[in-house]
Amino acid sequence: MSGGLLTAAAASEERRRVYGRRKGKKLRAGRQALVDELLPRLQLDLPPSGPLDPAALFPRPILGLWLEIGFGAGEHLVAQARAHPELGFIGCEPYLNGMAACVAQVAESGLDNVRLFGDDARLILERLPRATLGRAHILFPDPWPKVRHHRRRIVSMPVLDLLAAALTDEAELRLATDHMDYARWMLAHLMRHPAFEWLAERPADWQARAEDETPTRYEQKALDQGLKPIYLRFRRRPRAG
Ligand SMILES: C[S@@+](CC[C@H](N)C(=O)[O-])C[C@H]1O[C@@H](n2cnc3c(N)ncnc32)[C@H](O)[C@@H]1O
Repeated sequence: MSGGLLTAAAASEERRRVYGRRKGKKLRAGRQALVDELLPRLQLDLPPSGPLDPAALFPRPILGLWLEIGFGAGEHLVAQARAHPELGFIGCEPYLNGMAACVAQVAESGLDNVRLFGDDARLILERLPRATLGRAHILFPDPWPKVRHHRRRIVSMPVLDLLAAALTDEAELRLATDHMDYARWMLAHLMRHPAFEWLAERPADWQARAEDETPTRYEQKALDQGLKPIYLRFRRRPRAG
């Protein structure tokens, strides 16, 4: 594993912002070799100070930047990056095995428009220049069902403030969960936030995944268990003036 990722992880551990597991089963030798070879090229390292320059992250000009927070094994991120070669994608995932699975898919697909960050998405959001994100996805985030753990939920007013700053006017924030209490929590937070407007007009809008999306691994697990996920699409309201 490259030193950059470990350094960023250690820094974040200090700040105690990422909850849950960072490592699962030991990677197979082949997968570890792929990660060792490719991650340094795909990995997004934060500059020592100041804002990130999104254009400088990619080897060719991009027409927009999308972010996925907690991409898991990366199927959705990779599918979106394949569908939109004109855009740049940043995926954040502190779980090392998920990162390794995503690196393998990016390599297989020969994508040059994906950059991966192995740490807390907030560290990226804090460094993105204002109004640079054309879309953000938070799909099936850890629900932290116990009340004493609710403060660990990634959907929170401070994170929505960061997203509101980073998203462009009219950009979409898309969320999904199969946990009904978290769905209510997401809705309550987003409806309270002045920068966001819920796009749903009819039940089908929150009962079905958007047509241009592919299912994530957690979503598929939920569907296989007969659960009915909730899909929330919010628009970043245009800034005044
Ligand atoms: C329940 S999993 C869902 C993964 C994937 N989105 C899916 O639907 O299959 C939630 C993921 O969010 C990641 N995560 C947790 N806290 C995070 C944070 N602060 N920043 C970025 N990702 C985070 C976890 O490591 C985990 O892989």
